[in-house]
Amino acid sequence: MTGRAEFASWLEGTNDLTSRFVGSAGIADLVNVAGGLPDASLFPSERLAEIAAQAIRDRPEVALGYAPTGGLPELREAIAARYRARGVNVGASNVLVTASGTQALDLVGKVLIEPGRRIACDFPTYAGAMDAFRPREPRYQDMDLSRPDRLAGAMARADLVYMIPNFSNPTGKLVDLPTRRALVEAAHETDTWLIEDDPYGALYYDGPALPGLLELSAEGCDAPYDGPVIHMGSLSKQLVPGLRVGWVIAAPDLIAKLVSAKQATDLCSNALSQLLTLAALEEGMIEEMHPKAIALYRERRTALAEAMERHISDWFDWEIPVGGMFIWARAKDPSLDVDRLVDAGVERGVLVGPGNVFDPLGLSGPALRLNFTLNDAEKLDRGMARLALALRDIAAGARMPEATAAE
Ligand SMILES: Cc1ncc(COP(=O)(O)O)c(C=O)c1O
Repeated sequence: MTGRAEFASWLEGTNDLTSRFVGSAGIADLVNVAGGLPDASLFPSERLAEIAAQAIRDRPEVALGYAPTGGLPELREAIAARYRARGVNVGASNVLVTASGTQALDLVGKVLIEPGRRIACDFPTYAGAMDAFRPREPRYQDMDLSRPDRLAGAMARADLVYMIPNFSNPTGKLVDLPTRRALVEAAHETDTWLIEDDPYGALYYDGPALPGLLELSAEGCDAPYDGPVIHMGSLSKQLVPGLRVGWVIAAPDLIAKLVSAKQATDLCSNALSQLLTLAALEEGMIEEMHPKAIALYRERRTALAEAMERHISDWFDWEIPVGGMFIWARAKDPSLDVDRLVDAGVERGVLVGPGNVFDPLGLSGPALRLNFTLNDAEKLDRGMARLALALRDIAAGARMPEATAAE
């Protein structure tokens, strides 16, 4: 046999979203409302720099050495302690430290998905999760959360459920408490793995946090957690994304399998990042940054909603989310070509997220995911004004009904 082997067939299903985002990043003065990026001015960089220098100097064998695959024992324990404080009886054997939420998704895919297995999601859902699962060739089914009485039936037909109960990416939707309870009950009743992907759980802008699926699943249970919820947490949206630290909290037998899978992925997560995370947890850096992040992002959420009202309300509808990083804008015209709009937006100097990549089953109409955490009010306004111009451009090209908007 001669010639180079073909690329693996699962690659045919990939979308070019990330490369489009990256390719556009170099365009001068582009307003990027496509990504899910935090504002770097919030990062406690000075303190992290001090701790990093000290860790490398004082503990080089740890900071610059290999770490255990499951994570530094003291970090696993510190993460477990945080969940115990929320009433979940977990120890270090329930915790896996990962290279952030993305690796947690990849590892769970490696361990639990085989070709053809069914994943139930509340669509539209996070494209990055589907990207992580894609090499395992799963099938997807929609999980209609508006019918709690049907959740057990839907779960019985699925091998795995994937949920983002706190401010879903892309929709910003918050799953209410009765639905959370119904999801957890159904997962226990049918004994189905239930992923709770929770990077946005700290970003509540308008009220107290609801209990998570893991907390509800562990309620009233004194024994160490062994239930069906696979909880994924991450530093990315509550401290800094660049350390690439996240974690999985789950039943110890699943954690052991994830450790086996991780061995062949990266042997261990970055030890220096883990030491920085440990120090951040011990010093309360997350708690210190939290009120600043909430105040800034709450203000920007309002600023984006107001800019949308001023510039694109003739074309889109939306709800104002009570947390997270995104507003999901649904097009009024069901024939709007979102991919053309994204390209037209780049021409006008704004980058928006096309909704279709989050909706592989094509269940929702044309939509955009708009981020409000990265840019200040003035930039958000400029971005929406440019989006209105892009909408007019494609309306002119496609003879769509003309709407009134001006920069
Ligand atoms: C729902 C969801 N899960 C997981 C991630 C992965 O983030 P990270 O790998 O930075 O933890 C993201 C990032 O935006 C996300 O929105």
